[in-house]
Amino acid sequence: MTKAIILGIETSCDETAAALFHSHELIHHITATQLVHTSYGGVVPEYASREHNKLLGPVVKSVLEQADMDLSMIGSIAVTQGPGLAGSLLVGLSYAKGLAMGLNVPIYGINHIEGHIFANFIGQEQLPTPFLCLLVSGGHTQLIHVQQAQVYKLIGQTRDDAAGEAFDKVARLLGIGYPGGPLIDQLSQDGDPKFHRFSRSSFPRSYDFSFSGLKTNVLQYIQKHDPGFIKTHLADIAASFQEAVVDVLSNQAIQAAKDLKLDRIVLAGGVAANSRLRQRMTELGQLHELELFQPDLRYCTDNAAMIAYMGYWKAVLQQPDLLDIAAIPNLKLSFGQ
Ligand code: KG4
Ligand code: ZN
Repeated sequence: MTKAIILGIETSCDETAAALFHSHELIHHITATQLVHTSYGGVVPEYASREHNKLLGPVVKSVLEQADMDLSMIGSIAVTQGPGLAGSLLVGLSYAKGLAMGLNVPIYGINHIEGHIFANFIGQEQLPTPFLCLLVSGGHTQLIHVQQAQVYKLIGQTRDDAAGEAFDKVARLLGIGYPGGPLIDQLSQDGDPKFHRFSRSSFPRSYDFSFSGLKTNVLQYIQKHDPGFIKTHLADIAASFQEAVVDVLSNQAIQAAKDLKLDRIVLAGGVAANSRLRQRMTELGQLHELELFQPDLRYCTDNAAMIAYMGYWKAVLQQPDLLDIAAIPNLKLSFGQ
């Protein structure tokens, strides 16, 4: 196993994470969630990079110790290159470059979005392409036709807020704190999704999404009712909002898969952890005889396992990167025709 280990590093936002893979197989991974942001109601970029600086060395040390390994066994390094917060990406990338130089091993810059998509297949040597991917995270809401590994076609995307962003903003409006997605998911378990029908946006002859109208709709609803009523029905309002998001995402994904004659749908990104979305997609998948892939809950939100696994794929598909690779905060997937 000497020198055959891939070290994955993820620092794009507020998780400091490291993972070890042997070929396509996960050995161990650690995700340290930065708690410093909780009281600010969102990620403070300056604090995020400072925390990555503090945590990354110890996280890499711990993942090696817990796997009973040492630096000399690392044969390549996969590190998130973008998209993400510039300062945070720089911390991970600089650390990875230093280590790659010191160990004299190749480095692979990984697109975080690709990591999310591939997170569904961690441990597998083959990809079940082609498939339709519903990518739903804090920064992205896209429907992507994945024709084969690294060959993508964009089918639809949000015209304003991302789905995760909508969860986070509505959680703030409801005063239930940060991070909004998991809190709304949890609160909704005790609520009635049919309590109020919030608006659902769609565009004719398009698979695009829009969530800013829904957010405004929730804001107007809150302003129209007295605070006591909102407090009493907090779970019902959360569940009704979540239902609107899930309705739009799932209906659009199913329609696109059917129109494109794809019989596999893959969920990816932080919002893929949403219990109602997973439940609805499972039901609709069965109804329409579509095979559904949902990432293990551990790999929905940001983690380094998906980065190291993507490193395995990049090593299969292309040459290593040069040591001068730059952080690209707005890195996109490369879409063909
Ligand atoms: O993929 P991710 O960890 O980071 C980005 O790359 O953006 O996604 C984070 C987003 C946040 O907006 C968070 O609120 C949302 O995913 N999220 C959820 C759930 N868990 C995380 N949204 C809805 N339900 C959840 N259970
Ligand atoms: Zn992410």
